This record gives sequence, structure tokens and C-alpha cells, in this order.
Amino acid sequence: MSMIVALALIAGQPVNTGPQGVLPQSEEAIDWDKEFGAEKRVADPVTGELPVDAYVQADANAGAAPLRNDHLAQALGGQAGIRTIVARLVELSTADPRIEAVFQNHDMVRLRRTLFEQICFIANAGCSYTGRDMKAAHKGLGITRADMNALVEHLQRAMREQDVPFAAQNRLLAKLAPMDHAIQER
Ligand code: HEM
Repeated sequence: MSMIVALALIAGQPVNTGPQGVLPQSEEAIDWDKEFGAEKRVADPVTGELPVDAYVQADANAGAAPLRNDHLAQALGGQAGIRTIVARLVELSTADPRIEAVFQNHDMVRLRRTLFEQICFIANAGCSYTGRDMKAAHKGLGITRADMNALVEHLQRAMREQDVPFAAQNRLLAKLAPMDHAIQER
């Protein structure tokens, strides 16, 4: 018995179920976004990114100082390599049943760009970071240590697939690890 039928029976109301006992659908679909005043974000026609609330851009938002030499940048395959690694990281993370739900309804175009910039900046591969700081970017996502571990697994795999030497993989992970306090909420 559907909830509506059950409620109507409790309330002593006659229930109009159709020939198959199915409640008639309302004639017009209700636009709940409109009813509750939820704004619809429209993607930028050029970048494909959704707008975000205003914030102050700064390299410091990347959450780690850049390396002084470009050894890690070289090991990651320069900007092209970092782009490939980030694309794979996002692909693996959004296909992982353990963490995919966290990414739903978020802008993966923007995430790919800002994550690329962040790693490129930290590895001294010639970028500025224009994204939000780690606390602001992950606020309210309820990320756990297990979620972090899953993401790191994917980053390691993405780097392995690009033949990034193990020591270089660890150099990048060592830069990202201290960000866990800003990212984890549970
Ligand atoms: C060291 C680990 C991590 C780093 C370096 C990192 C980096 C970033 C960056 C650069 C952004 C974009 C900032 C911006 O839009 O301005 C971002 C956003 C995001 N991250 Fe992470 N992240 C990490 C861990 C995680 C984990 C573990 C999850 C979930 C399992 C996650 C889920 C997300 C989501 C859903 C967004 C989009 C938020 C939004 O649309 O507002 N991140 N992250």
C-alpha cells in the first residue's frame, strides 16, 4: 500500500485509485526548485564550469608550498602528464562505489582544472593555483579518513599507470598528506 493511500485511509478519506489501483499522477509536474527558490547554476559556455561563490584567489589556497626544483614535475611528465594523472584520478574516484556519491552533483570540469593547477603548482611545473582552499572546497562533504585513503589509492594507481617512479609518487603524497586536517570532517 502506498503511503498516500495509507494516510488517506487513516484520515477516513475516500481514496481514488485508478483501475489498477494506481493513484492518478498530478497533471502538471511541480518544479520544486522554483517552489523552494533553489537557484539553478548555469555552466559557462566556454569552460563548461559551473559558477561558485566569490573567494579570494591565491597560490596559498593550494595548501602546500611548491617544491624548489622541478624534479617532481619531470617525474610526473610535466603539465601533460599531470593532466593525464588528474583525469584518471577523477575517473577512478567517480567510479569507486566507496566514494562516488561524494562527487555526485559537483562540478567535475572545475575539479579536473583546479586539481591539475594544484598539483602543477606544488610540483613546480609552472602553474598558479586559482581554486579555493582545501577547507572551503570540502566543507560539508563529510569526508572520512577511509574516503581519503580511497582517493590516495586512485592517485597512486594513476601515477603508476604513467610510470611515475615510486619515490616521486611519495614526494607528491607527502605534500598532500598534511591537508587531511582541512579535508576530513569525520
Ligand atoms: C589530499 C586530498 C585532496 C586534495 C588535494 C583535493 C583537492 C581538491 C581541489 C583542488 C578541489 C577544487 C577546489 C575548488 O573548486 O576551488 C576539490 C574539490 C572537491 N573535492 Fe577534493 N581533494 C582531496 C580529497 C578529497 C576526497 C578524499 C574527496 C572525496 C572522497 C574529495 C571530494 C571533492 C569534491 C566532491 C569536490 C568538489 C566540491 C565542490 O564542488 O564544491 N576530495 N578537492
